[in-house]
Amino acid sequence: MDKDRIEAVLKETRSFEPPEAFRLRARVKSEEEYEAEYRRSIEDPEGYWGEIAGELEWFEPWQKVLEWNPPHAKWFTGGKTNVSYNALDRHLATWRRNKAAIVWEGEPGDTRTLTYHELHREVSRFANVLRRLGVKKGDRVTLYMPMIPEAAVAMLACARIGAVHSVVFGGFSASALAERIKDAGSEVLITADGGWRRGQVVPLKEAADEAVRETGIVKHVVVVRRTGQEVPMEPGRDHWYHELVEGVEGEAPPEPMDSEDPLFILYTSGSTGKPKGVLHTTGGYMTYTFHTARTVFDLKDDDTYWCTADVGWITGHSYIVYGPLLNGATVVMYEGAPNHPEPDRFWEIVDKHGVTVLYTAPTAIRAFMRWGEQWPMKHRLDSLRLLGTVGEPINPEAWLWYYRVIGKERCPIVDTWWQTETGGIMITTLPGAHRMKPGFAGKPFFGIAPEIVDGEGNPIREPDQGGYLVITKPWPSMLRTVWGDPERFVNQYWSQYPGKYFTGDGARRDAEGYYLILGRVDDVINISGHRLGTMEVESALVSHPAVAEAAVVARPDPIKGEAIVAFVTPVGDVEPSEALAEELKAHVVKVIGAIARPAEIRFAAALPKTRSGKIMRRLLRQIAAGQEEISGDISTLEDRSVVEQLKKGK
Ligand code: WTA
Repeated sequence: MDKDRIEAVLKETRSFEPPEAFRLRARVKSEEEYEAEYRRSIEDPEGYWGEIAGELEWFEPWQKVLEWNPPHAKWFTGGKTNVSYNALDRHLATWRRNKAAIVWEGEPGDTRTLTYHELHREVSRFANVLRRLGVKKGDRVTLYMPMIPEAAVAMLACARIGAVHSVVFGGFSASALAERIKDAGSEVLITADGGWRRGQVVPLKEAADEAVRETGIVKHVVVVRRTGQEVPMEPGRDHWYHELVEGVEGEAPPEPMDSEDPLFILYTSGSTGKPKGVLHTTGGYMTYTFHTARTVFDLKDDDTYWCTADVGWITGHSYIVYGPLLNGATVVMYEGAPNHPEPDRFWEIVDKHGVTVLYTAPTAIRAFMRWGEQWPMKHRLDSLRLLGTVGEPINPEAWLWYYRVIGKERCPIVDTWWQTETGGIMITTLPGAHRMKPGFAGKPFFGIAPEIVDGEGNPIREPDQGGYLVITKPWPSMLRTVWGDPERFVNQYWSQYPGKYFTGDGARRDAEGYYLILGRVDDVINISGHRLGTMEVESALVSHPAVAEAAVVARPDPIKGEAIVAFVTPVGDVEPSEALAEELKAHVVKVIGAIARPAEIRFAAALPKTRSGKIMRRLLRQIAAGQEEISGDISTLEDRSVVEQLKKGK
């Protein structure tokens, strides 16, 4: 947890009323309206969620809204529906048929717009292709894609035929991809020849080939031609997307899915070395992302909504693809980097497409701050009416900059707290209804019951006391299990405080009921809003022959939020050197991906351990942060001289 940020939040006592012009048109117009709806959602969750789900289409009605056998929830049991049908076909009977669904911009500046009609046709054609490749309901399909419309098309096509997609972020390495393909047991992989990032081609096909070789289980690789560079195609196994869809029928009957049938798996880091496959199911996830997207982003039919996340993360799943499309919104999708060719690319896109709602991350905002106000000032930005942030705690300074320089003090900001596991936004202010406090995420969304507890699980009721954030009631889009590891699901989330979902975050609540998220309290690091487990990086390091032992901690970073510092003990006769440090950094990139690259490697003859052999991470964090004086109890430290060594040991 970053003390400076907490102090800054507590010192920042200004709060901001939602602008009147916004409030008048908002979906939820006042604190009182919020309170009344919140109360109803908590007192009668079944009535509340039944009503929301009823706004969507079901092929067969559910018998029961909720069956709750902690920690197992089933929502809308017996109901049959299809998420792709609700995100596409449902709109075709209305005027939205010819409304833009996806407005896409490639990094080189090429653009494509797909109306709902066109998106439906693309999805249906690709659904037919997948069926022809032998993909059936329940099969897992892995996606390793750049940010191109086909990524959304492939996700929706899987949903249409009942296949379970597993999207792997295109920045992950071949071996990270292989691990996820194997864990999911995917026989089909969808990828592209490459994608554009800062003017360079990201060689996705190359990494995909390496991963496929490593797994030995992939039968078909579908390759979208994006960058056009030469890539090897293995006959019989590899197929060009454009060849497969050619002449294929643009109608594909949606598979009737049981409400609790799996929709997707998304891997995320936890406190062990192995990423977890978080499983989301159909009816609850659909209902929750539908309702949160329209309420939190105040979506109207004339909005042009842009979420800058990648589809490889949960934010891309819930708030680029499913939530907005379920609402028939126009979604902007951008392929590349925020500073290519210049640091005003985002602002150029906002003006060019007339973006009204912008959803991005604190790490991006801090980078924009560093690049300077002159870049956004070159653009009008007058189409914007609402701003959002997600992924990590936002420091008040960044919040205020976003509010002033981008929103011109005219746009409310929603600071949305949630997780891969929660499927949708859990804590946020509602624009129009809530006064905003920089640094505070805000209040619980409808139906969400957060609580702050102490180490023993006792609720902390007094305001302004830090504790662990738990959720005490089930909600529709909660994860249902960890793919292939039901025990981990129970142990990881439900065993600290039986009957309550443990988030892994610390938080405090003020007297008005606003939540301040303090950050992770477990061994998860948040780099630029991306989650990484310390153990994952440690196992990558020890897989290098020169490393005997490694411990990884985070240190605060002004742009990325956190950065990785790795303490490494080399094997016997290996001499630490700058070259070795570079080699180890490159090795981590190879094993996991560029986001996991350590900012710093410190060599030491030994790591600080307790007498029972536990690595003292708290101490390492202090050293990594450059703290001269080590505070706290080190009486259990076995060998005190290692502290001095580590402080020096670069
Ligand atoms: C952090 C991303 C503070 C938090 C949607 C959480 C945040 C983890 C916020 C989940 C926020 C996300 N304020 N912290 N608005 N949003 N986090 O699974 O630590 O990639 O547990 O989901 O990000 O990251 P994940």
